[in-house]
Amino acid sequence: AMITLRQLLDHAAENGYGMPAFNANNMEQLHAIMEAAKECDSPAIVQASAGARKYAGVPFYRHLMEAAVENYPEVPLVVHLDHGANPGMCMRAIQSGFTSVMMDGSLREDGKTPADYDYNVNVTRRTVEMAHAGGVSVEGEIGVLGSLETGEAGKEDGVGAEGKMDKDKLLTDPEEAAQFVRDTHVDALAIACGTSHGAYKFTRPPTGDILAISRIKEIHQRLPNTHLVMHGSSQVPQEWLEIINQYGGEIPETYGVPVEEVQEGIKNGVRKVNIDTDLRLASTGAVRKHLAENKSNFDPRKFLQASTDAMKEICKARYEAFGSAGMA
Ligand code: G3H
Ligand code: 13P
Ligand code: ZN
Repeated sequence: AMITLRQLLDHAAENGYGMPAFNANNMEQLHAIMEAAKECDSPAIVQASAGARKYAGVPFYRHLMEAAVENYPEVPLVVHLDHGANPGMCMRAIQSGFTSVMMDGSLREDGKTPADYDYNVNVTRRTVEMAHAGGVSVEGEIGVLGSLETGEAGKEDGVGAEGKMDKDKLLTDPEEAAQFVRDTHVDALAIACGTSHGAYKFTRPPTGDILAISRIKEIHQRLPNTHLVMHGSSQVPQEWLEIINQYGGEIPETYGVPVEEVQEGIKNGVRKVNIDTDLRLASTGAVRKHLAENKSNFDPRKFLQASTDAMKEICKARYEAFGSAGMA
């Protein structure tokens, strides 16, 4: 059944677990996320970026999520808009059946320019009023995602702020976060703690100076009843980087967020953990390997099945690691 983000994260908080929220663009990703949830007896969060809705097409996306509910009636499912750019985009997602939306007012509508506090409150509060009137949940964001190492938003095109960032914005201020929750009444709050989107988060395995889980603790102490959200939380598995490079890929050395650091976050109020890159890496690695090892195959179902299987393993590992397995 479809449920709201608020319902799911309230349950997660009561039971001390975190929910991976997986980005999905196509049927194979939906299959992987839902099949893994069913096998782990976990609820699921599927999220669509604006790019995902454009890629699949809005009607296709709507029917994909309806198919997920029909095919997996035992899995409580939240369908969430990731990084909504303005209240209108959130409204359109609600109209197409989403039970949760993110209004990301930390950036202006271009998705690149950091916004000021008043702009963020204004667009987020308007979205909350609209969404709550229809029983839909809202995630807001305070602080700007970006690397504490380089001061940049991440190297992946089109995701997040552009160019060099003000370093003090890259860590959410607990006092400002508290004011933001009072001003907007969001159901969940995305915070900045040194992670960034994409595969290029850290040039070395992260330590406390570049991945500030300590900042999450401070925010949680100030806001014990707010569900916190970590973006840019892919682990960037070294084994998948190796497989991609072994089979013709060229991905330079890079590191993501260790699962233990996410678990530390979950002990401190993190309830939603956004993961996109890990599924992309597993899918790409599996397809490269399959095609290299099956040179005469030209049935796309074969390599897409390999992709689905690889993504499903990632999903299962996250449901287990974050404690949502057995909670459906
Ligand atoms: O927030 C960023 C997600 O990784 C989605 O990326 O805009 O390429 O779908 P996308
Ligand atoms: P990753 O790029 O680390 O998977 O983060 C995804 C994300 O935060 C989507 O909103
Ligand atoms: Zn994000």
